Amino acid sequence: MSTQERLIETYRKKAKYYDVTSRLYPAPGYPQRTQRLQAVRALRLRPGATVVDMACGTGLNFRLLQKVVGPGGRIIGVDLTDAMLARAQDRIKTNGWSNVSLVQADAAGFDFPAGINAILSTYAMTQVPECAEVIAHGAKALCGGGRWVVLDLKVPGSTPRWLAQLGTATVRPFAAIDQWMMRRPWEAIRAAMEEELADPSWTELFGGTAFLAAGSRGPGAFGAPPQGSAHQ
Ligand SMILES: C[S@@+](CC[C@H](N)C(=O)[O-])C[C@H]1O[C@@H](n2cnc3c(N)ncnc32)[C@H](O)[C@@H]1O
Repeated sequence: MSTQERLIETYRKKAKYYDVTSRLYPAPGYPQRTQRLQAVRALRLRPGATVVDMACGTGLNFRLLQKVVGPGGRIIGVDLTDAMLARAQDRIKTNGWSNVSLVQADAAGFDFPAGINAILSTYAMTQVPECAEVIAHGAKALCGGGRWVVLDLKVPGSTPRWLAQLGTATVRPFAAIDQWMMRRPWEAIRAAMEEELADPSWTELFGGTAFLAAGSRGPGAFGAPPQGSAHQ
C-alpha cells in the first residue's frame, strides 16, 4: 500500500466521527477554535471573495469562511479523501449553502483556479510531502494582494523527542510520527511562503506546538481585483 493509500484509509476510518474527535485535537482543551479564527482573520477576506480551503476535510472552516465572504462569495473545498468530502457535503446540505463546491484531488496535483482571493489550509499541509510545491502553485493562482494562510501543528523547538512523540501520537498514525518529526515539514512550508509571497509572516502558537504562516501575493498577473470580482 502506498503512503497516499494509507493516508486515505486512515481518514476514511476517521471521517464518521472526525467532527467530534477533532475537538480533542491534538489534545483535550487545545485551543483549536481560537487558532482557526486567527487563521481566517489572517485571510483578510471581504464579502464576495473566493477562497480555496485546501485539504478541507469535513469542512470545519466553512462556517467561519461563510461569515466573512457572505452569500456572494465562493468557497472551494479540496480534499483527497472521499469519506471526508462526503461529510463536508452533508454539512453543505444541512446548512443550505449554495456557494460551496467540493473537489476530490491531491493537493500536489490540484489546478488552482486563477485569480482567487485567498487560500487556507488548516491542520493538513504538514501531511503533504509536496507542501512547498503546493504553496508555489497556489501563490501563482492568487490575485494581486491575495492571501495564503497555513495553520498546522509543529514540534516546539526545545521539546525532547520522547515528549514530542507522545504529544503527536494522539493524532498521527503511529508509524508516521517519526517520519513527520524528522521531515520537519513546517520548515519547508515556512521557506516556501518566504520564497513565494511578498510579505510572509510566521507566528508560533500555543508554546510552539502550532504555527500560522501567512503572506500576500504582490501585484502580478491578475492585478488586484476588488474582492468579489475574482474567478467565479
Ligand atoms: C487533520 S485533517 C484536517 C481537515 C481540515 N482541514 C480541518 O482543519 O479540520 C487532514 C485532511 O487532509 C487531507 N489530506 C491529506 N493529504 C492530502 C493531500 N495530499 N491532498 C489533499 N488532501 C489531503 C486528508 O484527507 C484530511 O481530510
